[in-house]
Amino acid sequence: MKINVPIAKTSLLSSEIQSVLEPLKSGWLVQGSKVAEFEKKWSNFTGAQNSIAVTSCTSALHLSLAALGFGPGDEAVVPAFTWISTANVVEHLGGKVIFCDIDPISFNIDVNQIESKISSKTKAIIPVHLFGLSADMNPINEIAKKHNLWVIEDAACGFGAQYYGKHVGTLGHTGCFSFHPRKAITTGEGGMITTSNSELAERIKCLRDHGAAMSDLQRHLGAKPYLLADHPEAGYNQRMTDIQGALGSAQMDRAHDIVKERQKLAQVYNDAFINLDWLRTPVCSEGFVHGYQSYPCIFKPKLANLSGVSHVNEARNRWMEILQQEGISTRPATHAIHMLSFYRNKYGFSHTDFPNACIANDCSISLPLFHGMTEVEQEYVIDKVISSLKK
Ligand SMILES: Cc1ncc(COP(=O)(O)O)c(C=O)c1O
Repeated sequence: MKINVPIAKTSLLSSEIQSVLEPLKSGWLVQGSKVAEFEKKWSNFTGAQNSIAVTSCTSALHLSLAALGFGPGDEAVVPAFTWISTANVVEHLGGKVIFCDIDPISFNIDVNQIESKISSKTKAIIPVHLFGLSADMNPINEIAKKHNLWVIEDAACGFGAQYYGKHVGTLGHTGCFSFHPRKAITTGEGGMITTSNSELAERIKCLRDHGAAMSDLQRHLGAKPYLLADHPEAGYNQRMTDIQGALGSAQMDRAHDIVKERQKLAQVYNDAFINLDWLRTPVCSEGFVHGYQSYPCIFKPKLANLSGVSHVNEARNRWMEILQQEGISTRPATHAIHMLSFYRNKYGFSHTDFPNACIANDCSISLPLFHGMTEVEQEYVIDKVISSLKK
């Protein structure tokens, strides 16, 4: 019997759905006590000293760079295989994106190539913890220290991911998380910035709120709620609503269980696909804990090289079509940014400029994985993955 299995599915408990009624009933809808509660729980879970909720991970990346003083003419090193907004925020601030190829096994930035990308204009490295696997942060931090660069962790997919015992987002100057519905904790749209630098945290809080010297909540709870705040900065509006804060906060009460469930689902896939030489499942080395935001594989890994890439790409797309007809949603793991029109046209890239990113773009496939996935759904996916290739 055919069943439909989406690539990801939001799974909320009824208590979590109910939680949004509280701010709706109280009438305090924007960045109030519920956002503060979510931020506190996020800090407790990740071990971050400061957590600042914002409107998306893209806002988090943008605000991090803006608060650190990144501006026109500055350069940032960004992996060539990631979601486009990792690069876009650099463009938005008038900077130049310097792409770096990825490691073909982890999908994360190739730390051996970073130093060759650094110039006198480089101000930041933006490593991405792609799909829930930490980038190799020790060498990245060493390079950053040597060249006096900021490290902005794109931890959009990093919930539950650890690097030698530390949660991602606590390893660089800031960490930036996403609460888009494809992420393990969702607030519809939403993001979080983590940082151990309290001065930087204050600047980010000010910039997220139109550059105000104090938040509306602080003003309302203070001695003179009738007076408006000063605005020492020309800031942005990147405040999270309390409706989102309530939803995020409620999910954090089962944060550990959510991570464990996703890891268990990934292990079931790993065991089921162990003997398929035409599918390379996600790799997680010692010292790393994978959060499994998704389950990215490489199709036909032995042929996935520059000379075989177009052949594998065609075969992968045909396979995705077969799975789609069986009711199973799959996606390429993410984009090679240098192959997208904006960056290709602006910087004149060719596909092969970042070969591993190009191969990952054309040969990767993410299979459905979401907490709340039933055994029946997962068994169906496993069965179709194994049997469909015969077609
Ligand atoms: C690696 C990465 N960075 C940034 C983002 C952007 O996150 P948001 O949609 O919260 O802005 C995403 C979203 O999927 C992502 O995967």
